[in-house]
Amino acid sequence: MTTTAPTPVDGPIGRPLDRVEGHAKVTGTARYAAEVPLPGLTHAVLVGARVARGRITSIDAAEAERAEGVLAVLTHENLGKIAAQPPLLPSLAGSVAPGETFFPMQGDEIHYAGQHVALVVADTYERALHASRLVRISYAEEPSVTVIDQGRDQAYEPEAIFAGFVPGRTERGDVEAALGAADVTVDRTFTFAANHHNPIETSAATAYWEGDRLTLHDTTQGVTATQHTVAALLGVPHTRIRVIGHFTGGSFGGKAMVWHHPALAALAARKVGRPVRLALTREQMFVGCGHREEQEQRLTLGADKEGRLVALRHHKLSPTSPFDHWAEPSLGVAGQLYACPNYEGVYRLIRANTTTPTFMRCPGEATGLFALETAMDELAERVDLDPLELRLRNYTENDPASGRPWSSNGLRECLERGAERIGWERRAAPPARDGDWLIGLGMAASAYPVYGPNNPQRARARLYADGTAVVQAAVTDIGTGVLTVMTQVAAEALGLPVERCRFEGGDTDLPNVAAAVGSSGAGMVSATVHAAASALREQLVARAVGDEGSPLHGADPADVDVRDGRMVLRDAPGTGEDYAELLQRNFLPDMEATGSWGPPPQDAPFASMTFGAQFAEVAVDPVLGLVRVRRLAGAFAPGRVLNAKTARSQLMGGMIWGLSQALLEATHMEPRTGRWANASLGEYLVPVNADAPDVDVDFIEVQDTVVNPLGVKGVGEVGQAGVAPAIANAIHHAIGRRLRKLPITIEDIV
Ligand code: MOS
Repeated sequence: MTTTAPTPVDGPIGRPLDRVEGHAKVTGTARYAAEVPLPGLTHAVLVGARVARGRITSIDAAEAERAEGVLAVLTHENLGKIAAQPPLLPSLAGSVAPGETFFPMQGDEIHYAGQHVALVVADTYERALHASRLVRISYAEEPSVTVIDQGRDQAYEPEAIFAGFVPGRTERGDVEAALGAADVTVDRTFTFAANHHNPIETSAATAYWEGDRLTLHDTTQGVTATQHTVAALLGVPHTRIRVIGHFTGGSFGGKAMVWHHPALAALAARKVGRPVRLALTREQMFVGCGHREEQEQRLTLGADKEGRLVALRHHKLSPTSPFDHWAEPSLGVAGQLYACPNYEGVYRLIRANTTTPTFMRCPGEATGLFALETAMDELAERVDLDPLELRLRNYTENDPASGRPWSSNGLRECLERGAERIGWERRAAPPARDGDWLIGLGMAASAYPVYGPNNPQRARARLYADGTAVVQAAVTDIGTGVLTVMTQVAAEALGLPVERCRFEGGDTDLPNVAAAVGSSGAGMVSATVHAAASALREQLVARAVGDEGSPLHGADPADVDVRDGRMVLRDAPGTGEDYAELLQRNFLPDMEATGSWGPPPQDAPFASMTFGAQFAEVAVDPVLGLVRVRRLAGAFAPGRVLNAKTARSQLMGGMIWGLSQALLEATHMEPRTGRWANASLGEYLVPVNADAPDVDVDFIEVQDTVVNPLGVKGVGEVGQAGVAPAIANAIHHAIGRRLRKLPITIEDIV
């Protein structure tokens, strides 16, 4: 893997620091939610509905209840009612965030296959698993709808999707007239298989009560989301629920919302009066925490003879659950990437017998850009332009949706750099051959929104008299390296070496920050960690200049620098003292400050997006139908990079995920039974090392003074955007066939 690092830096921020929790993870001492050792721990196993729609007609739990070690068999007949169902809100909002507005085991109605219908608690996992198979449930089955083809004629246009955050219809200009007047139009339909997240750590919670106080260890993207959601469901005050999530073994959006199992674990723990551990099985991961929905997108481009876009119409059709109007926002970024005066975006939904779909890494952007950037490749062919030149011709300095200037850009530079790295000049020549393999080059632009906070982000910083500091905010590290980068941010703001700084997250007892979603954690949490640590540093400097015993007494605080925990006069670095000396002399065990940031003003005259460009080189064997991605080159402009190593890893992982989306990932619904047919890691394909090519990650430096104080735009998802169309376009270059479905499989090639 080749990479170019961003510009070297002086302070801790930006350095390729190794992960602070790396040692704990590789030595197995890191404890995950289903590994918490507790005295009297019991184990719960869920039972899922065997039909996709209908009613439970009878439950016979007698045999299960009699089985060895069984403490309880909970069903809708004895679980009890939840206090209240919280509304669907994204976890970015920082409060309640249920995965769907339906809670199972409240009645006999079945809405989707796999719906939790019973929970068996026993003294060991094996006994609970055994007893779960002894619960006899009968159903009256009704016809179900689970795929687009079954529900096409029932489609409706919702007012809003995505938990109400995205309007169902967006228009500007007159798309109909502009398409009629366009010199060239491209009108295509793209289809996408459903996808499931499949982190290696399945969703899990361990719950225990001490009197009326609940502690939940949860594998989650946001401990606060779990706290607020479980509080609402159980009717328990927030103050009596503590949620801890120090480590999360991958999630990709599947742990962004709070699904049913943490509340069920808490209810079960209350019933049996002992701690309960509830971990979903791999198969249950396909029905217990959402998915990326199957979808169809019809995209119509209108352009003039020079390839300048005059109209873009983008319609999406997808199944949602019986309860919620959810679609991933596939139309957003695809409608903002290029200058285009006339636009129409419409979401249509079909009520289906599945869970509510949910966020899945690059939710919407990845699928929307596949449609747009594949169609753009076709447009380039129609107007006889190099695909790269077509992108540059439609480049914009302003967000076409709001008309506001981008707070920072870099798309042009990313396109040019990526072209250089892949050797794009080769594309002008006829496609090369390598034995039976036909070689193709393809490219696509990449973009991902920059989200700001909806609520104030908070952090706390404390410096001890020994000169070490602890900085805290309730962020969870889902594998991104956020604990590491926040250590760097805290150390830089305090003027301490990173070794003397510890960052702590993953606990609702710590100051509240939003969940780790939407590629926004680094920007939002760094802002508040920086604010808290800077406030503490200012307090310390103020204390020193006001202290007659300090060599800095009487100095202007603005003239004081801190390096390695030592406050010195900038112009006379020999004059100063350590933080530790100041505290010890004043008999202070520690000093502490809090900081907060956001929300930013609603009427900021800018729009923000992280841009990038993706280039792919593929080898295709048209006889065997094989596609091998030989190289991926991505260039990204994510603003300030907090850690060169973790940022690169995020982008590289995103690019490989994009390859996976292009060629491998699909969940197949079996419409006759309404069940997912390949609910296992054996049959749901994800890339292994042998599938991953040489990945070239490059950075374009842009400064953004608008998005947040450190100018961080995020790297969590933009790495994936644009990879699948770059690969599809490369396949077209190699064999001359346009592919408009994901994933692209052998039968699409031969
Ligand atoms: Mo991420 S798909 O925004 O949880």
